[in-house]
Amino acid sequence: MWKPPERIKFFPSHGLIPDRAQAQAARLFSPIQLGPLELRHRTWVPAMVPWRSNEDGEVTEEVIEWYARFAQGQPGAIVIEATGIRDVPSGPLLRIGDDRYIEGLRRLTRAVQQASGGHTRLLIQLIDFLRIRRRPEPEVFFQRHLHLTDALLERAGLTGRTPDEARQALLELGPKGWQTVLDPRDWQSLQYGAREHVNDVHLPHIAQLPQELPGLFAQAAQRAQAAGFDGVELHYAHAYTMASFLSATNQRADGYGGSREQRVRLPLEVYAAVRNAVGSGYAVGCRFLAEECIEGGSTLADSSWYGLQFARAGMDFLSTSRGGKFDDAKQPGIGQAAYPYTGRSGYECMPQYLSDAQGPFGRNRKATAAIRHAIGQAGLSTPVVGTGGVHNFEMAEAMLAAGECDVVGTARQSLADPDWALKTWLGRGQEVRLCEYTNYCEGLDQKHKQVTCQLWDREALDEPGVRMSHDGKRRLVAPLWQTAGAKSGAPSA
Ligand SMILES: Cc1cc2nc3c(=O)[nH]c(=O)nc-3n(C[C@H](O)[C@H](O)[C@H](O)COP(=O)(O)O)c2cc1C
Ligand code: SF4
Repeated sequence: MWKPPERIKFFPSHGLIPDRAQAQAARLFSPIQLGPLELRHRTWVPAMVPWRSNEDGEVTEEVIEWYARFAQGQPGAIVIEATGIRDVPSGPLLRIGDDRYIEGLRRLTRAVQQASGGHTRLLIQLIDFLRIRRRPEPEVFFQRHLHLTDALLERAGLTGRTPDEARQALLELGPKGWQTVLDPRDWQSLQYGAREHVNDVHLPHIAQLPQELPGLFAQAAQRAQAAGFDGVELHYAHAYTMASFLSATNQRADGYGGSREQRVRLPLEVYAAVRNAVGSGYAVGCRFLAEECIEGGSTLADSSWYGLQFARAGMDFLSTSRGGKFDDAKQPGIGQAAYPYTGRSGYECMPQYLSDAQGPFGRNRKATAAIRHAIGQAGLSTPVVGTGGVHNFEMAEAMLAAGECDVVGTARQSLADPDWALKTWLGRGQEVRLCEYTNYCEGLDQKHKQVTCQLWDREALDEPGVRMSHDGKRRLVAPLWQTAGAKSGAPSA
């Protein structure tokens, strides 16, 4: 992952640890209404892909154990990882693209309900993404992938050659020659692997996205409802299709790109279709970028405006993230696919402890506060979930007190200690295991390996029934917080 050149080291701290009475009177542990859905507390576990599904995208026992473990810590809400709305092979990414997934997802919602004692509300993040290929061997690229055009042959002085001769001659040009003769897009595909973009309207399936996606999202949301989820989060963030429509880099000329009014059109149409499918009594919100953090990307003025449009349209909550784009991702090795969290924008999304003067904690606070402010100025009160580097009560409470957000998301801190909020609520905050922001977990995610945390994945491996990773070295869920006090003090329904 890219790191700021300053490389200043930051260490998390517990901050002010409230006693039980202080915690239970705190904003963080007060209820909030997300449209029709009441959260008991304002603690939120944002979507995190743990690579626990299988090649069929099904809910496995590992998926259930993973989320049940978060649920034992009784956060206000958990959002299940980005889940594909299409029924197409996507490696071990969870899917919801067909009715046959409903049964497995129902087992998941029941397990979370049970493990949290009914305290935690469960949402699922719905994602669409475009095709991306691995970085090819140059031989494969020139012999199989490259589309030979007259312009390319002319630039390379190969007009009149047979396709086989031209391909061989192009291959022999070597990197300097390739950069001169290939058009920028082909050069990019050779260096990074071909990647579809919403601007590729010459491809019929990309041109059709505005017609296709509202229905696909709506059906997926209906399945989520049938499976017992309390709500859905539309994934409009990071490197994926819907975020690409919102991006200032979207230059489609079909009414769905260019100005921000046109860029937000499909996200609003998707929302309208979902709302129509699930009805007004069901929680629907989205996750979107407060800042894209790429050159030529959307700005905070854009996202504040988007937030307002989403709120006006009737979304029940808005969750913010930042960065995480392909545009500035590092070049992958040959045979590897680009990963959107390796560049500067990736750092902004999941900043780690080696940072710049601003540091990795709370990098999205200001931008999130601006979005919430814009919504409030318009007389609306759609709750905003703020996430990014939050790891202690003091910081979470300060964000709420300052009106920066209404709910506080903690992704890696919840991974490091799924009981952190419960421990704090019980006045036992000193027992919280703090995330060190090393991004060991994110490194596993990048390799599509089962995600675990370095703080606990080698601990108590002899516990009966402990489930291990494919490599046999790591436990797959955090050890239980073995304290009688935790049980007896657990909040009542
Ligand atoms: C392993 C891992 C997987 C993630 N997967 C998703 C995802 O599926 N959807 C999403 O919106 N964000 C995803 N994220 C980003 C987190 O939700 C969160 O925005 C980010 O980690 C910053 O918050 P934090 O500092 O509290 O960890 C993932 C993060 C990690 C570490
Ligand atoms: S591996 Fe654990 S400690 Fe390291 S960043 Fe991830 S959650 Fe935090």
